[in-house]
Amino acid sequence: MSAASTITAEAARRRTFAVISHPDAGKSTLTEALALHARVIGEAGAVHGKGGRRGVVSDWMAMERQRGISITSAVLQFAYRDLVINLLDTPGHADFSEDTYRVLTAVDCAVMLLDAAKGLEPQTLKLFEVCRHRGIPVITFINKWDRPGQDPLALLDEIEQRIALKPTPLSWPVGIAGQFHGVIQRGDGVMTAFHRTPGGATTAIEERVEPVEAAQRYGPDWQRAQEELELLELTGADHDQGEFLAAKTTPVLFGAAVANFGVRQLLDALVAYAPPPGPRPVTDGDPRPVTAPFAGFVFKIQANMNKAHRDQVAFVRICSGRFTRGMTVLHGGTGRPFATKYAQQLFGADRETIDEAYPGDVVGLVNATALGIGDTLHEGPSVRFPALPSFTPEHFAVLRSPDTATYKRFRRGVEQLDAEGVVQVLRSDRRGEQSPVLAAVGPMQFEVAQARLEAEFGVRTTLEHLPYEVVRRTDPAGEDLLRTMAGAEVLTRVRDGALLALFTSNWRMRAIADNTRGLSLAPLL
Ligand code: G4P
Repeated sequence: MSAASTITAEAARRRTFAVISHPDAGKSTLTEALALHARVIGEAGAVHGKGGRRGVVSDWMAMERQRGISITSAVLQFAYRDLVINLLDTPGHADFSEDTYRVLTAVDCAVMLLDAAKGLEPQTLKLFEVCRHRGIPVITFINKWDRPGQDPLALLDEIEQRIALKPTPLSWPVGIAGQFHGVIQRGDGVMTAFHRTPGGATTAIEERVEPVEAAQRYGPDWQRAQEELELLELTGADHDQGEFLAAKTTPVLFGAAVANFGVRQLLDALVAYAPPPGPRPVTDGDPRPVTAPFAGFVFKIQANMNKAHRDQVAFVRICSGRFTRGMTVLHGGTGRPFATKYAQQLFGADRETIDEAYPGDVVGLVNATALGIGDTLHEGPSVRFPALPSFTPEHFAVLRSPDTATYKRFRRGVEQLDAEGVVQVLRSDRRGEQSPVLAAVGPMQFEVAQARLEAEFGVRTTLEHLPYEVVRRTDPAGEDLLRTMAGAEVLTRVRDGALLALFTSNWRMRAIADNTRGLSLAPLL
C-alpha cells in the first residue's frame, strides 16, 4: 500500500469524540463501560474511578486526589471491531475550565450524555453550545434508564425545543424508565432485553427477543413502545446521515451505563455514523486533506503531570499525515524545527512511547516548552490552523503575591499558567505589573492556578474577587469611553493583546452601551 493510501485507510478507521454531560450524569461510568466493550490500547490519564473500581486513573495532582475528581483532560484510545476510537476526556466536575471547552476543538463528534430523570442540565447546555458553534455532530445517549425518569417522548421534546436539534432515535425503550425491559432497534424491530448484571463489572447480558415473543412477554409495555415508534415514524424522526453531519439532527440511544446496557449500541453508532477525520480548515488556502504531510495542533498543555518527570506536555491532535516517533517537524509560528523524540501517548505513573499515529489520534509531546496552545506542528511547507477560540470568562480576580521577594517567580509562574491556558491573564496600567487580573470560565481555575503557583514556583498568592460578570471585546476608543464609568473596566488580555471590557452585570453593560455613542462591544466567542 502506498503511504497516502495507508494514511487514508488509517484515518478512515479513526473516530475521535468527547462526552459532553453534566456532573453525575454518568460520564465516568460510561467511559468504564466503553472500556469493557472495547480493548483499551492506551490511556492518557484523567478518568476517575469510583467506589473502589479501578477506573482509568490519573493521580498526578494532589488536588485531584483529594477531591476525587479529574481536573485535566486526556485521552483514552480503544480498539473496537476494526476501528480505533479516541475518547478525549472533558473534565466534568462542578466547575468548568477552559480546558473542558478546548477539548471540543480536537474532536470530530460528541456524545451528549443525559440523565433520564434530569434531561438537559446547565453544563450540558454550555458544552452543547460549543459543539453547535463548531458544527460538531452530536449523538445522544439517555442514561440511567434502569431507574425512574422522564417519559422518552418528553425527553425528545425537550431536546428539540431547547436546543433545536431534531432527535432521531436509533433505539426505543420498552417499559418506562425504572421498569426497563430493554430496547427495540428501530432498524430491524428486534428487541434486546435488559438483564441486570451485578455491579456493572461485566458486559451486560444481551438477549435478542424477536417481536412475536416480545409482544407476549411484555404485553402492554411492548404495545406502548410500538405506538410510540409509529408516532416517531409519522414525525419523520429517522436518521439521515447528511442532516446529522450538518449538526441538525441527533441520533438517540437509551441505556444504563452502570449495567453496561446500550453501550455496545453506542459504540456501533459511533462506528456507523460518527465522521472520521476529514479535511481541516487552515488560515490560508484550501482545507488540508488527511493525506497531506503531517500536521497537527496543540489543544492542551500541561506541566508537571508526573512528579517523577518534571516536564511540560503538549497534547497534539493530528489532522493530516503520519506521525512517527523521532520525526522532526516544524513549528507553524516560528518555522523552527521541533524534535519529537519523546512523543508519548500514555501518562500517569507508567509511560509508554508510541511509534506512529494517524489523523484523529492525539500524541503527547514531552518537554515541549516551546509550544503554546493553538500552535501548529507540520512537515513540509508552512501551514497554520485557525487560532483556538478563547472562551468567554465569567469570573475575575486580582492575583497578588504578598511576598515581594518572590516577585520574579510569581511573574514566571503567571506567564506559564497563561501559556498553558490554565487561566486568561489580563493587565492594565491602572492596576500595574504586580496585580494581574485572572479571568476564568469556572472558579476552580483560580484554585488550580494558586495551587500550582505554590507547588511549582514556591509562591503564595492572594486573590481578590472582582464583581464583574460580563465581558465584551472592545477597541482603544472603547477603552477611553469606559475609563470613567462605574461598573466597568477595560483590561488587555496578555495572550493576544485583545482589549476586554468587563461589566458588573448584563444590565449595566446594556445601560452603558445604550447611552454611549461610538462604543464598540463584541462577544468573545
Ligand atoms: P460523572 O462522571 O458524570 O460525574 O458520573 P459518574 O459516572 O460518576 O456517575 C454518577 C452516579 O450515577 C454514580 O453513582 C453512578 O454509579 C451512577 N450511574 C451512572 N450510570 C448509571 C446508570 O445507568 N444507572 C444508574 N442507576 N446509576 C448510574 P454514585 O452513587 O455517585 O457512585 P457509585 O457509588 O454508585 O459509584
